[in-house]
Amino acid sequence: MYKIAVIPGDGTGPEVVREGLKVLDAAAKKFNFKFETKEFDFSGKRYLKTGKLVDDADVAELKKYHAIYLGAVGDPDVKPGIIETGVLLKLRFALDQYINLRPVKLYSSAFCPLKDKKPEDIDFVVVRENSEGLYKGMGEFQKKGAKDEVAIQISYNTRAGVERCVRYAFELTRKRNRRKQLTLCGKTNVLTYAWDLWQRTFNEVAKEYPDVKIDYAHVDATTMWFVKNPEWFDVIVTDNMFGDIITDLGAMIQGGMGIAAGGNINPAGVSMFEPIGGSAPKYTGKNVINPLAAICAAGMMMDSLGEAQAAKAIEDAVIKIVQTKLKSLAAGKMGYSTTEVGDLVVANL
Ligand code: IPM
Ligand code: MN
Repeated sequence: MYKIAVIPGDGTGPEVVREGLKVLDAAAKKFNFKFETKEFDFSGKRYLKTGKLVDDADVAELKKYHAIYLGAVGDPDVKPGIIETGVLLKLRFALDQYINLRPVKLYSSAFCPLKDKKPEDIDFVVVRENSEGLYKGMGEFQKKGAKDEVAIQISYNTRAGVERCVRYAFELTRKRNRRKQLTLCGKTNVLTYAWDLWQRTFNEVAKEYPDVKIDYAHVDATTMWFVKNPEWFDVIVTDNMFGDIITDLGAMIQGGMGIAAGGNINPAGVSMFEPIGGSAPKYTGKNVINPLAAICAAGMMMDSLGEAQAAKAIEDAVIKIVQTKLKSLAAGKMGYSTTEVGDLVVANL
């Protein structure tokens, strides 16, 4: 029995989570696994009502679950930064989910903004370091408010933190068995402290993986290659900030936020799975948001829990309806409602 903590969150989060759980229910019946869920109301909504974010007792409670399934958090009435750091980043850091895993896979050329790219051309995974870097929140103001004010934001990189991330990426590259190529995406030509450590660590760990071809690309060039030659990539490993940026671009070349899922992984702890698109206040309550990203996130969650067959079936069903049913992957333009898309996935499991 898998115990799954569900955080529907804000905006369209609850709508897409509902479809994801619907698909999980069907998958559980078909593949003979059992799961139970408990809902947690961490969100911008709750913060506005109670001032509460995620505290250490919440984290301790969440540690009792096998996985966390998150819709989206963020409310337009809350000042930017509060929910992000108080809920999402708090969970990632407190649960030491040090990998942010973002597959970029095109399911149908019809939805690719790039000319002449086919599904076999866009199939890579970004392994984003998820616990350090610029996200660590280290820095200071000097003379805040003054004309000669200075704001310092530190990118904090530890050998141990970089190494565990790089090692995860090598293991994944080996397991994926596609091109067996791991690209380090960085900025060694300018950020000479952080990326020196990354490069040295990468090269050292590489010696243990002679079967993996190693490669390096600067982050700016990486964005160019995503558009020009995405087929070049198999697995990419990068730091927290660069990973954040390139995975939004990755989401667009795979067809948009409607289909982009991610996992915040602690391989020895509790991982959290989410559609990466955010709470989409504009579409809230209209039953028009695309639930496929959340459904794919549910699939990733089952894969991480050891239900590979169910995960594969969920992905195959998503591919099938993307290729044969949907008019678009964008909210309101799919040709089906949110609930209908969920039903279609269930019907094709
Ligand atoms: C993401 C999001 C978050 C991030 C924000 C909401 C804090 O953009 O998951 O990529 O920057 O990591
Ligand atoms: Mn982001």
